[in-house]
Amino acid sequence: MDDERVITNRELESDTFEESIRPDSIDEYIGQKDVKENIKVFIEAAKIRNETLDHVLLYGPPGLGKTTLANIIANELGSNLKTASGPSIEKSGDLAAVLSTLEPGDVLFIDEIHRMPRYIEEILYPAMEDFTLDIIVGNDASTRNIKIDLPPFTLVGATTRAGDLTGPLRDRFGIVSKLQYYTVEELEQIIKRTSRVLSIPINDDAATELAKRSRGTPRIANRLFKRVRDFALVKGDGIIDKDIVTLALNRLKVDELGLDETDYQLLKAIIEKFNGGPVGIESIASSIGEEVTTIEDVYEPYLLQTGLLKRTPRGRMATKKAYDHLKINFQERLF
Ligand SMILES: Nc1ncnc2c1ncn2[C@@H]1O[C@H](COP(=O)(O)OP(=O)(O)OP(=O)(O)O)[C@@H](O)[C@H]1O
Ligand SMILES: [Mg+2]
Repeated sequence: MDDERVITNRELESDTFEESIRPDSIDEYIGQKDVKENIKVFIEAAKIRNETLDHVLLYGPPGLGKTTLANIIANELGSNLKTASGPSIEKSGDLAAVLSTLEPGDVLFIDEIHRMPRYIEEILYPAMEDFTLDIIVGNDASTRNIKIDLPPFTLVGATTRAGDLTGPLRDRFGIVSKLQYYTVEELEQIIKRTSRVLSIPINDDAATELAKRSRGTPRIANRLFKRVRDFALVKGDGIIDKDIVTLALNRLKVDELGLDETDYQLLKAIIEKFNGGPVGIESIASSIGEEVTTIEDVYEPYLLQTGLLKRTPRGRMATKKAYDHLKINFQERLF
């Protein structure tokens, strides 16, 4: 039985580094002020009323702290967290199995909830609304519906693409929170926290430089920190200073805005092959050999956020800022 794969109390990602530096209380969770303040109030209120917290949907680009926040919600409620992920729920039985392990007050975290098949979603509706499980048992000759009561629980769903959820599913979440890219100051705090947790010192200006190049994303900040630490050990004297950050990130081909080689390829393709756009995402994807969804979920949001890319009804366009950043003459495209 593949229960083992679907239900696990552990993170699905076996990234022990990420585990070791993941904050586990809401006060340690840096940034996302609005989301954090609201969730704090809802948790407090649920506790006072002695009810379960309303279902929570967290969405936003990868690495902004959805899984971390799901863990924190369970911790703050003093509840157990059970984890499943959309792609691993392939049959209705998989979801029924997960739901039937729930105990009163549990937090069920479904990561990548948009990747759960539509017909399975329908099982979630009564589970979320009335805490009941409606299932069909038996085979063709004798099927019947049975209703099973579930204990009250809180579903926390995470997704990088809220638009891929059906309306009915989205509507059943009482709390819907969008995570935003982090500011440089917030990323600095995250980097300093990581430095403290791992006891690896970093200078202030080095932390600032690293923060600037982390494309608004804690996961990237932490991963870069890890790489920079190696450079400090081998090329420096173990202390992470600004020169080490610059050296390491240049070697890793991460530029001052945090753009990597794929971002460059993408912008260059729009500028050089499609005369700056507008061009459809499919054409961009095939010209640089990336999946459309990867571009939409991972690359494009940050390029839009930094103002290097613009979305128009006729497709994506490189902005003047992109031309300047890539040191390509903006006037050229007029001829
Ligand atoms: N607000 C925060 N404060 C401190 N560290 C954070 C914060 N958010 C995220 N992190 C760090 O960033 C790492 C990535 O976060 P997390 O795994 O929660 O992202 P995610 O949104 O679930 O990503 P994905 O969409 O890929 O599942 C975590 O290991 C955690 O240490
Ligand atoms: Mg996650």
